[in-house]
Amino acid sequence: MNHPLIESSALVMQQGGRTTLSTSPLLVRPGHIHGLIGASGSGKTTLLNCLGLLLRPTQGSVRIDGEDTTAWRESTRLQFWRDRASFVFQDYGLVPDWSVLQNVFLSDRKKAPSADLGAKLAETLRLVGLDGRQDARVSTLSGGEKQRVSIARALMKDAAYLYADEPTASLDPDNRATVIRLLRTAAERGACVVVATHDEDMIAACDETTRLVTPGSPSE
Ligand SMILES: Nc1ncnc2c1ncn2[C@@H]1O[C@H](COP(=O)(O)OP(=O)(O)OP(=O)(O)O)[C@@H](O)[C@H]1O
Ligand SMILES: [Mg+2]
Repeated sequence: MNHPLIESSALVMQQGGRTTLSTSPLLVRPGHIHGLIGASGSGKTTLLNCLGLLLRPTQGSVRIDGEDTTAWRESTRLQFWRDRASFVFQDYGLVPDWSVLQNVFLSDRKKAPSADLGAKLAETLRLVGLDGRQDARVSTLSGGEKQRVSIARALMKDAAYLYADEPTASLDPDNRATVIRLLRTAAERGACVVVATHDEDMIAACDETTRLVTPGSPSE
């Protein structure tokens, strides 16, 4: 398989009759944490969603593994999300009524995991600081714990692409440091990690950053 790589050309997004995103080309390398930074409203989340194929830009294209995704069919994108990508958005994609275990596997199967998978799961839950919490319902967890469930899922599936939107926002310093460390772990395992953030500690932990400027603002 190719090394994971995200390449985007200059992207423009128009939404609600306005330009909401205007960026230069960017490259996210495997093993790196790439920060999308800039003022509120500058388009960080919009760009993250474009790079994660959740949104299609009005102009420009996103290449994944060297393939132009513009031509990808819905089924190819679904396969990408299922097998290769993981999203760490607060509350995003977690099923509140499912347990930590079910959410990490993203499956409500009742079957116990195989011995190998069980060992990997135990290790992952330990890494994210949720050991012993695998049967807790996600709806009963704190914001930081939910973030860590999302990261556990990304680590369990060895996601080659990890997208995180403000993963450290509204966390206390300990949880913030934990989340940053876990994103680094994912990068060290070879993932392309993209993070939209305005948190100074998170920014300092990035290998590269792209600063977005609100389209139409005087500093553009
Ligand atoms: N679906 C949409 N329809 C119309 N406008 C949108 C839509 N989604 C986002 N926008 C606008 O696009 C601009 C960029 O939004 P975006 O959420 O990407 O900013 P951001 O940099 O992530 O901001 P924040 O730091 O506050 O999260 C904003 O002006 C927002 O109002
Ligand atoms: Mg945002």
